[in-house]
Amino acid sequence: MLSSCTVTRTGSVMTALWMCVLVIATLNAKGGDCLSNVKLAVIPPAVQLGQSVRLACDYDLDGGRLYTIKFYRGRYEFYRYTQTPKGPPSTKVFALPFATVDLSHSNSTQVVLTNVGFPMSGNLTCEVTTENPGMTMAQAGATMTVVALPRSPPRLWTQYERYEIGDTLLANCTAPPSTPPSQLTFQINNRTVPSLASTFYTAANQEQWSTLSIHVALEPRHFRAGRLALQCVASLPAGFAVKSETRELGVKPAEPVPERVTSASTLLVQSHALLLVVLAVLAMAR
Ligand SMILES: *[C@@H]1O[C@H](CO)[C@@H](O)[C@H](O)[C@H]1NC(C)=O
Ligand SMILES: *[C@@H]1O[C@H](CO)[C@@H](O)[C@H](O)[C@H]1NC(C)=O
Ligand SMILES: *[C@@H]1O[C@H](CO)[C@@H](O)[C@H](O)[C@H]1NC(C)=O
Ligand SMILES: *[C@@H]1O[C@H](CO)[C@@H](O)[C@H](O)[C@H]1NC(C)=O
Repeated sequence: MLSSCTVTRTGSVMTALWMCVLVIATLNAKGGDCLSNVKLAVIPPAVQLGQSVRLACDYDLDGGRLYTIKFYRGRYEFYRYTQTPKGPPSTKVFALPFATVDLSHSNSTQVVLTNVGFPMSGNLTCEVTTENPGMTMAQAGATMTVVALPRSPPRLWTQYERYEIGDTLLANCTAPPSTPPSQLTFQINNRTVPSLASTFYTAANQEQWSTLSIHVALEPRHFRAGRLALQCVASLPAGFAVKSETRELGVKPAEPVPERVTSASTLLVQSHALLLVVLAVLAMAR
């Protein structure tokens, strides 16, 4: 099909025309054409609520002349670029309730949408029509997802503040609502901890929160030079992620305290005691 059209430029015009007619006849009315490689890219494929997205429609005219390019959300056409043989090209926008077409950045190969809302998630299509000299048409589709990140990072809770090999780490993590609800994972020293899927619960105001808990028997492999850094990650489609604070739960090798330190104030008292000893030694040295 492709080669039959490429002939147009090099071979006999009659042969090329005949081939095109043949190709069109063997496919349905919308299908076969000399237009080729129509591709639609949604950049980025997942866009944050209220942000902008670029729909780039790439195509090879293959010697044909561009007539129109149309963009659809589902079956609703929202942008049309028309180039008639006479006169300048024209653009037409059909208002979308959940996005705005940025005309200053839209042309015959792309449309930019701003202030994108959730209902824009779904199938987008770009449709190219050429005159070759007969009308030919081809389409390409792509999917867009609109996401809303959680309004704050996930919150981490652990039963204790210090852990050693042989202890059981009991932790849970909760993420504020997002669209879609986030999937949570725990990481120990940047390695994902295998766990069940997150569960979702609905708060009094109908918002959906995500939660996950883990129960891990700690082995040497969970520590790196005595260090155990725990973090929780809330993930959304297309690589969007929001991370909790990192909590240092290991008993650091430098610390001469083998027993579990249960509060920050204990540490503070110990450092004060150390300071007093140092001062006393300094005073004696005088
Ligand atoms: C449409 O606009 C984009 C961005 O400004 C540009 O890269 C592209 O070449 C333009 N397309 C045409 C056919 O002018
Ligand atoms: C989007 O396109 C895919 C593949 O073409 C189709 O299976 C799906 O039903 C479409 N979704 C909607 C909402 O139209
Ligand atoms: C985590 O578990 C503890 C103990 O069961 C509970 O008190 C706490 O509310 C949980 N926290 C979250 C964020 O789920
Ligand atoms: C985890 O990765 C971050 C950045 O890549 C790094 O700064 C941090 O030290 C790492 N933590 C551990 C415990 O390896």
